[in-house]
Parts: sequence; C-alpha cells; structure tokens
Amino acid sequence: MKRLIVAITGATGAIYGVRILEELRPHPEWETHLIVSNAGALNLRYELDKSAKQVSELAHVMHDIRNIGASIASGSFPVEGMVVAPCSMKTLSSIAHAYADNAIARAADVTLKERRRLVLVVRETPLTIAHLRNMLAVSEMGGIIYPPVPAFYAGFNSIAEMVDYTVARILDLFSIPFTGALNRWQGIGREAGGAHE
Ligand SMILES: Cc1cc2nc3c(=O)[nH]c(=O)nc-3n(C[C@H](O)[C@H](O)[C@H](O)COP(=O)(O)O)c2cc1C
Repeated sequence: MKRLIVAITGATGAIYGVRILEELRPHPEWETHLIVSNAGALNLRYELDKSAKQVSELAHVMHDIRNIGASIASGSFPVEGMVVAPCSMKTLSSIAHAYADNAIARAADVTLKERRRLVLVVRETPLTIAHLRNMLAVSEMGGIIYPPVPAFYAGFNSIAEMVDYTVARILDLFSIPFTGALNRWQGIGREAGGAHE
C-alpha cells in the first residue's frame, strides 16, 4: 500500500485537489490522506459547491487541519509523498519557513525532512518577492513548485481538459498513470516524431 497526502488550501483552483483524489480512486495500491484548510473548505463551497465532507468521501482517510497529532504528522508513518493542490501563498510561506502550526504545514514539513516528494500547486498572480523567495526556499529543500499554468499547445477544448492536463502532469511526478485520454506532446514535424505531419 502506497500513501499519498493530498491537501486542499484556500487558493483558487479547488478542482485540482478534487480531480487528483478522483484520479487516485481506480488505483487500489494507493491510499489517499486528505487535509482541507478552512479557506480550502470555503473555496470548495464557492467554486464547486461541495463541502469538505463530500470531498472527503473521495479519500481513504480525512485528517482535521487542527490535528497536529495525526498519523501523517510523523515521519515514522510511511507515505510516498504529498501534493498541496491548490497551494495558497500563506501555506507556501508556512512550508518555506517550517512553521508547522497545522496539519498541512506539519505534514509538508515532515515530507521535506524525510526527503519525500512534495509538490506544491501554487497559485497567485502577480507574485511578490516574498512569494518568489518562498518558492525558491521550498525548491532548495527539494520540493517541487508546480504552478497550474496551462500548456496551450495541448489544444484544450474545455476548462475540464485544461485542468486534467495539469492533474496528469502532477500524477506523473508520483508515477501514477492518468486514467483519461491525454494529448501528450509528440514533437513537431517529421524529424521530431511526426505528430503534426
Ligand atoms: C475566492 C478566494 C480565492 C482566493 N485565491 C487565492 C489564490 O489564488 N492564491 C492565494 O495565495 N490566496 C488566495 N486566497 C486567499 C487565501 O484563501 C487566504 O490567504 C487564506 O488565509 C489561505 O489559508 P490556507 O493556506 O490555510 O488555506 C483566496 C481567497 C478566496 C476567498
């Protein structure tokens, strides 16, 4: 059994966290541990008209954001890694500074200290120097900064496809196969593989 921690915070893009959980459902070898921040719950309601409780049904285990005694708050609890999707600038800041005052920041801190994979789907525009420095700090500690910026060459027909492309690329980072169809880049022209011949 492989475990993945999925955290949903209060940046816009709650759909990313939900789609990651949905995509993990058909993979019986993966156990998902969900944490939703208070602002994350607010945005789930605002953007998707879903409660955190409804979203928790997609996960195997739900942890309270206040429970810093949760299993995932300890490095002795084996997990493959953690994805924060979406990741607010506030949560990014707490992770960058090891300010582990809630279950999301603590689980991310543990993920970094145990040298496990941490992916932050950070979202804000424009970015201040503080945001950029915090991203650099996490990157220097081995975390992966993955802003959900669309790859327009993929030729999306809908926002759902655009979201799924990002979700698939995040899952790639954990070697989890995406279940849906995906228009992966094949190269341009004859020399590069013939995708556009
Ligand atoms: C509708 C809405 C959209 C927001 N979008 C963002 C965003 O894209 N990025 C961000 O850093 N904060 C955003 N915020 C602000 C965060 O929710 C706020 O800073 C919050 O304290 C983050 O807390 P958390 O990291 O514990 O979830 C948004 C808030 C609301 C209500």
